[in-house]
Amino acid sequence: MPAVGTPVPRKEGLDKVTGRARYTDDVVLPGMLFGRTIRATIPRGRITGVHLDFDPHGFTVVDARDIPGRNVVALIVDDQPCLADGRVSHTEEPVLLLAHADREALLGATVRLDYAAEPAVLDPRASQTVFKELTIQKGCLDDGFGSADVVVEGEYRTGHQEQLYIEPQGVIAVPEDGGVTVYGSLQCPYYVHHALSVLLALPPERVRVVQLETGGGFGGKEDYPSIIAGHAALLALKANRPVKLVYDRLEDMRATTKRHPAIVRHRTGVTRDGRLTAIDVEVLLDGGAYTTLSPVVLSRGALHATGPYRCDHVRVHGRVVQTHTPPNGAFRGFGAPQTQFAAEAHMDRVAAALGLDPVALRERNVWRPGDTTATGQRLGPDCSAADVLRVAVERSRYHERRGTLAGRPGAGIGLALVFHGAGFTGSGEVKLASRAALQLTATGARIRVASTEIGQGARTVLAQVVADALGIAYDDVEVAEADTRFVPDSGPTVASRTSMVVGRILQGCAVRMRERLGDLGPADYHARHGPFEVEGQYVRPAGLDWDEAAYRGDAYGCYGYACDVVEVAIDADTYEARATAVTTVHDVGRVLHPVLVRGQIEGGTVQGLGYALLEEVAMRDGAMANAQLTNYVIPTTADVPPLDVVVLETPYVEGPFGAKGVGELPMDAPAAAAVNAIRHAGFDVREVPATPERLSEAPCVSR
Ligand code: MOS
Repeated sequence: MPAVGTPVPRKEGLDKVTGRARYTDDVVLPGMLFGRTIRATIPRGRITGVHLDFDPHGFTVVDARDIPGRNVVALIVDDQPCLADGRVSHTEEPVLLLAHADREALLGATVRLDYAAEPAVLDPRASQTVFKELTIQKGCLDDGFGSADVVVEGEYRTGHQEQLYIEPQGVIAVPEDGGVTVYGSLQCPYYVHHALSVLLALPPERVRVVQLETGGGFGGKEDYPSIIAGHAALLALKANRPVKLVYDRLEDMRATTKRHPAIVRHRTGVTRDGRLTAIDVEVLLDGGAYTTLSPVVLSRGALHATGPYRCDHVRVHGRVVQTHTPPNGAFRGFGAPQTQFAAEAHMDRVAAALGLDPVALRERNVWRPGDTTATGQRLGPDCSAADVLRVAVERSRYHERRGTLAGRPGAGIGLALVFHGAGFTGSGEVKLASRAALQLTATGARIRVASTEIGQGARTVLAQVVADALGIAYDDVEVAEADTRFVPDSGPTVASRTSMVVGRILQGCAVRMRERLGDLGPADYHARHGPFEVEGQYVRPAGLDWDEAAYRGDAYGCYGYACDVVEVAIDADTYEARATAVTTVHDVGRVLHPVLVRGQIEGGTVQGLGYALLEEVAMRDGAMANAQLTNYVIPTTADVPPLDVVVLETPYVEGPFGAKGVGELPMDAPAAAAVNAIRHAGFDVREVPATPERLSEAPCVSR
């Protein structure tokens, strides 16, 4: 029986539901110390004094002088120190590390820091420091606006958002073999491996990174684990003992990365009958104190800034700048939720300016196979944006409901249509050159990849692909631990790439293994000839081409499409907007695992509704002032309306069994759909989260 397309049990499911799965904080090693991070308390300045107000007996103390290699968190641009070296660029900047065998003693230690404070830049519009700037250009804006009958402008804003994985960040570092091994909760073992090698001046073979069971990531464990792993490793090497460093929720929320806040301006030219003639977008992202992943977040954000619409004359200009808050980083969607919120909130305003139905405007311009994107990418037969839109409108009975709700005070319905590129941007996948391996075992096959299971079902899906490509049972496929000593670098677990890109490499490995097995099953072959291994590497699909300098070409291997329709009810006294019904239609190519795909869609939709309506990071003096679950409010099951999930399956020929990526797409549409519903209810909100405060101050808009 084929595994692909069926809801096989999760590989790690039984361990999780029985409590056998061990997360970082469950692991106790002999002689282990606990670690703690002493952080800055001002956003910007010089450190003029460090006072240890405790008896140092039994403590290991580490500062920047203890770093054997380079004091950087190695990633894209090496501007972020692992430990502050005299300067502070955000509150929460790590300054000193402590370790002690006794947790109470550790928490009781007091460290005072003296500073010469400097003025902090907290408004991105006032920042003079640009991390990355880029322009996407197609056609000629003057021509486009010249043929427009109407020009519509608008500014849209999105706030920070906390990933809020259920398991906070944590690692354990163990000095061994003249180097260090780090176990932890993380998405990208080889990112951590590289960062440790640079920080500790260790050759790669002396650094080992092992991912433990991980309770969610959402991008929050893409780059940050390199910092916490560096800290634990420094303490462990100095103490010559294992060191566990696990954040509590408060520290995790205050210190680790968030989604980049954005200010996006649109200027759109359109003919009276609704044809888009010019799209001009200005994107400003708040990067926080250091570069981290900001250049690529900006890139993805800019590449998704037009929405899935045809237009001959486009300019998208993007900047990401420094402010003195903790650095912002990866979060599911990676820039696209911000820019597509703006694009789709703006589309409804364009429709209103023309007196057109929002669906009619979108139908008029939506991408169809053969159309080109802003970078000139020609869309293939898997471009199903128009189908997704049509099904969402029918299924939600959008027009009928729009009429009905228009007569009800405080009620509204809104829609958003989005796309999401799967895999690394541009030539990213070529540069990653991911490798994956498949071993023949006595009973079947074992997958060896650095791609991590973070709750999304990666191990299960990869095993399904291998099982069917090899022609063996799903249960006979094992997945090796993501341990850099034993697995090849299949790239980071990010960017909606694991099923599609790594799955495709493994599919190729399985096909080659099957050829070598000939007429024998794996067990028979193994018994006669012994084990063997097949390694595969990413091969760029034919016809894809990207020009990084010009920002032209095929920005992604393919795109998934989604359309959300959200109904809201607004409380007349409190101005609280609640989603009351959601229809969400996704096309992510062939569905490998129906329950996991549905889980990604439901989870992403709810996370998107939180972004739209509830989740407000309150910044005070450059730090998160509401770093608790009592006042950083995320949706609970009680807040989730009935979700009508519809999945279309337009295959992508280069994906394994026709699959595209699904991880991020569900995050893109909810915010705009909700805000468009709020607008339909009469409130001109152009910012998320659309909190009661914002609704109470919003101008009225006629329905
Ligand atoms: Mo991600 S936001 O590409 O981990």
